[in-house]
Amino acid sequence: MARVHLPVVDARPERPAGQGTVTGDPLVDTFARRIRYLRVSVTDRCNYRCSYCMPETLEKSGGLSFQPRSAILSFEEIEQIVAVFADLGVRKVRLTGGEPTVRHGIVDLVRRVARVPGIEQVVMTTNGHLLADLAVPLRDAGLTAINVSVDTLDAGRFREITSRGDLPRVLAGIDAAVAAGLRVKTNAVALHGINETELVALCEDAWARGATPRFIEHMPMSDGALYDSSQRISAAVIRRTLEEVHGPLVPAETRNPDAGPARYWALANDPAKELGIISAMTEHFCDDCNRLRLTAIGELHACLGHDDAVSLRDVIRSGGSREDLVRAIAGAVSGKRAGHVFEAKAPAKHMIGIGG
Ligand code: 5AD
Ligand code: SF4
Repeated sequence: MARVHLPVVDARPERPAGQGTVTGDPLVDTFARRIRYLRVSVTDRCNYRCSYCMPETLEKSGGLSFQPRSAILSFEEIEQIVAVFADLGVRKVRLTGGEPTVRHGIVDLVRRVARVPGIEQVVMTTNGHLLADLAVPLRDAGLTAINVSVDTLDAGRFREITSRGDLPRVLAGIDAAVAAGLRVKTNAVALHGINETELVALCEDAWARGATPRFIEHMPMSDGALYDSSQRISAAVIRRTLEEVHGPLVPAETRNPDAGPARYWALANDPAKELGIISAMTEHFCDDCNRLRLTAIGELHACLGHDDAVSLRDVIRSGGSREDLVRAIAGAVSGKRAGHVFEAKAPAKHMIGIGG
């Protein structure tokens, strides 16, 4: 496939927060964006070492350190924080990592979060390694949907990308999740030299399994330095590649107010077949951003692309009241930036600590 390098459109200048109007609602930011969706990283550990996320080289060079257990939020603390967010209007929680399924007791955590009044959807992002055994317990605990990373359908290449991964296991996990009635999406980071020849096959495989395929444009986090921007496959190229084989794509109108950042497309000839593209780099979606991220150590990050954070753990562990938590949350929300500026300044944080 010919390499097409699209310029990044709409790369915003670094803008300070607070240019808009403060409404008094803790979950409405100064650009009038309402937060309804909280991503919670439950661990900074993972059983894989994906080259674009947590490369082994980074670990071996000492560039990656894991948090001590005592620094990680307990289930009670996560529940307490989620309950405050739910009171304020959050309806959807995504559990992520690291790899959320390596956190001991993850099924119990799903159950606890799903029971929080106001929370309507608990979903998860996983590498799928442990999913075959966990799909039914997770569903029974209240999980409704799951995103599984599948960057390639070549088992050898899968192992190369993930260092420790096992593709047949992951695919079995996807099948188990579909059979359990979970909504399943696959995630592939689209990169030249990695999966550029597999974009169509990845879609067809996901459709055949009853899952919705998605592609993510590679984002230059601190650890993304392994890849340069010329390797990124843009959303436009992904769409064109699909269209060459399956005919025109039309926008799929599946958006709901709690949706994530993917834009969905359907085959015009077969509208049940949809695919999502997370075009973080070439087609910004920051204007509709509805989410916040809580790291495993309880730092609330208002934007994936910036390092600003407020520690909710410190508020809780210093005996703060619910009002103190609300104040800290409101502070983070009011500091939410207009958008990321990846091309100008990649954040120093690691994807592994924030879970995408
Ligand atoms: N850029 C884009 N996507 C990434 N992911 C991990 N690191 C990056 C990166 N640097 C993806 C994973 C997972 C999702 C949550 O984020 O593949 O599917
Ligand atoms: Fe683990 Fe997911 Fe990062 Fe891969 S992308 S190292 S599976 S957290």
